[in-house]
Amino acid sequence: MLQNLTQQPPDKIIEMIGMFRADPRAEKLDLGVGVYKDAEGRTPVMRAVKAAEARLVEQQESKSYVALLGDQGYLDAMQDLVLGDAAPEGRIVGAATPGGTGAIHQLLELVKMAKPGATVWYSDPTWPNHPAMVKHMGLGARTYRYFDDATRGVDFDGMMQDLAEVAADDVVILHGCCHNPTGANLSPEQWDRVTDLLLEKQAMPFIDFAYQGFGDGLEADAAAVRKMVGRVPQMLIAASCSKNFGLYRDRVGVAFVICADTETADVTKGVMASINRLNFSFPPDHGAKVVEIILSDPELKADWQAELEEMRQRMLQLRTGLAEALRRETNGNDFDFVAEHRGMFSRLGLPGEQVLRLRDQAGIYMVGDSRVNIAGLPDEGLEGLARAIVSTSE
Ligand code: LMR
Repeated sequence: MLQNLTQQPPDKIIEMIGMFRADPRAEKLDLGVGVYKDAEGRTPVMRAVKAAEARLVEQQESKSYVALLGDQGYLDAMQDLVLGDAAPEGRIVGAATPGGTGAIHQLLELVKMAKPGATVWYSDPTWPNHPAMVKHMGLGARTYRYFDDATRGVDFDGMMQDLAEVAADDVVILHGCCHNPTGANLSPEQWDRVTDLLLEKQAMPFIDFAYQGFGDGLEADAAAVRKMVGRVPQMLIAASCSKNFGLYRDRVGVAFVICADTETADVTKGVMASINRLNFSFPPDHGAKVVEIILSDPELKADWQAELEEMRQRMLQLRTGLAEALRRETNGNDFDFVAEHRGMFSRLGLPGEQVLRLRDQAGIYMVGDSRVNIAGLPDEGLEGLARAIVSTSE
């Protein structure tokens, strides 16, 4: 039977991790997978995480099961972090999941149970695992235009034209902040218009929220999702602690479902517990507990916020520095958009052949669509990257 299996297409981002590791060149530069690196090129365990882990090891008395939906303290802390006062009392269901990807999976499965064959819309381009997971789940897929290749900003007119075809109960995936892969984001007014449209269409917004704190700050990054929660009857949110807590490998995420009324929320709660049970039983607890400890201890929380803010500021400096280096090297302002984008990523708009030349000639790895992980840049690497982009351009 196993001989019936066929090779699966590799995920473009994960494939790059292996290619980079296999490259023997010392001067190689990894701008592929979205992992934050500090000025020394390290991805350190955050200070508050270290402290919380030490406390956990010291104080934890049992590794027995917690609950199918995860630890309530973690769910409450994450609800507060993501939604703050906007959380709708009695209409929200939270489920701990293995990472943000796990949250997306569980929510797509919920959609499939509620409406088999439902249509899921995602931006073109988007994180490659969105289309892959929607297909894997057997759901219908539609795309909406998002990125303007000329301005490297949002193609909002194209987006609204495409979303005009959304039907009732279609699911529309939106990146809550720090759009992956482009780095181009909706303005507050554009968020309002998208919300108006989805309300009119009676569609289900699905917010992928993986980068809170990496764009304009913890609160500012959550503003759009919070405002939308206040306006729509139903909504799905997948949040991740991989990036903002640096807990990548510990797999810490949460799925939130906003329901139209408390009766539906009661049923949905049981369904989410059941979906967890069917897929992996209990969600991983270690990283979730670490997050709960940090968020419920004022000192640890302040230290975590301070370190996260240092990371965000570093990414902003790298953005400005790279835009300036490219200005000098190209004698033009074509790449000024890099300083305007937010989050870890920017899509540079380079042709695929140039991306390959950068890899082959200069050992610079970026995703094939010319997405660069800004947070992967060493401080002294800005000029070199700018020069390599110019020298590989024809
Ligand atoms: C990325 O887009 O590089 C990150 O979200 C990591 C991943 O899982 O793809």
